[in-house]
Amino acid sequence: MPEKNRQILLRRRPKGWVTQDCFELVETDLPKPGPGEALVRVHVMSVDPYMRGMMDDAKSYAEPAKLNAVMPGEVVGEVTESNDPSLRPGQFVLGDLGWQTHGVARARDLIPIDPAKAPISMWLGPLGMIGATAWIGLMHIGQPKKGETVVVSAAAGAVGSLVGQLAREAGCRTVGIAGGPDKSRFVTDVLGFDAAVDYKSDRFVDQLAAATPDGIDVYFENVGGAVFDAVLPRLNRFARVPVCGLISRYNAPEPHPIRDARPFLVNRIRYEGFICTDRMDLWPKAHAAFGMMIAAGRLVWRETVAQGIENAPAAFISMLKGGNTGKQLVKLVP
Ligand SMILES: NC(=O)c1ccc[n+]([C@@H]2O[C@H](COP(=O)([O-])OP(=O)(O)OC[C@H]3O[C@@H](n4cnc5c(N)ncnc54)[C@H](OP(=O)(O)O)[C@@H]3O)[C@@H](O)[C@H]2O)c1
Repeated sequence: MPEKNRQILLRRRPKGWVTQDCFELVETDLPKPGPGEALVRVHVMSVDPYMRGMMDDAKSYAEPAKLNAVMPGEVVGEVTESNDPSLRPGQFVLGDLGWQTHGVARARDLIPIDPAKAPISMWLGPLGMIGATAWIGLMHIGQPKKGETVVVSAAAGAVGSLVGQLAREAGCRTVGIAGGPDKSRFVTDVLGFDAAVDYKSDRFVDQLAAATPDGIDVYFENVGGAVFDAVLPRLNRFARVPVCGLISRYNAPEPHPIRDARPFLVNRIRYEGFICTDRMDLWPKAHAAFGMMIAAGRLVWRETVAQGIENAPAAFISMLKGGNTGKQLVKLVP
């Protein structure tokens, strides 16, 4: 039997929480690469919070995903056939092939990676978009200074775990906000943050105050909502808030307004949204910073890995609900 391509299609746009029936697994013939194109067998694919936004048919920074088409997303895979001299079979590449076991792309849209430098999944983490996001948000917008207090939410996740480690390298006091005691312990004991605060605890506001005795100079915003309500009164004069994500609102039916804008004025707070692709010019700096930390054995990188394309929707939904520690990935090749 000839090998088939297995794909996850977006069949339905969610109302509120994403459910399994938004997706369907289908089998098709393997695609054929045309001139200048390559066929890639996907080894590992990324499921990310931004994909929740793309499932809506609403104006955003990214185009909506198309109904009845393959869910978009980044993957790392191996070239199995190439009609372009720049790529040869056996080479590993990073590309936007979506949720499928095989994909065709123009060779110029595939980025060759070197598996001798780091495990291939790291290009879906510190050596790729996730690393660029953490670096641009913290170093370019947050501009942490030695001795300052940096707080990051979703601290046990992909971006958050990198932000904390970058902030520690910059000589800051690092405080991570995460959901539940296990993740809080991971943030301090494994990632090496100075303190962790559990936003699900009844004592969250008091614990945040205790963990930030000198206030907060940089708050790296990943979640918004009630967590930001607790952070805002603790922000110092001239604090910086790189607004990276608002995951607590992605599936919420109602908006969660900021209650009082007065602290922004009184404390001259800079609240600045950013999208990592706005500053592609800074990606090499991020790549170099994490490359150095990996080479020196100083980077802690954790992954939560689901197995098989059929489990991609469940892995995605689980990540949105906090089921992941570190980066949520889906492995397609055992
Ligand atoms: N601006 C950009 O260019 C850019 C690029 C990449 C990512 N992002 C954003 O960065 C953030 C983190 O992304 P990631 O890929 O690193 O994902 P992640 O942190 O690895 O996974 C998402 C985490 O969000 C937390 N979460 C879910 N619901 C929450 C809620 N109601 N309140 C508080 N925390 C909640 C969960 O952790 P807990 O168990 O701790 O709740 C979950 O593990 C997201 O907001 C994403 O949209 C932005």
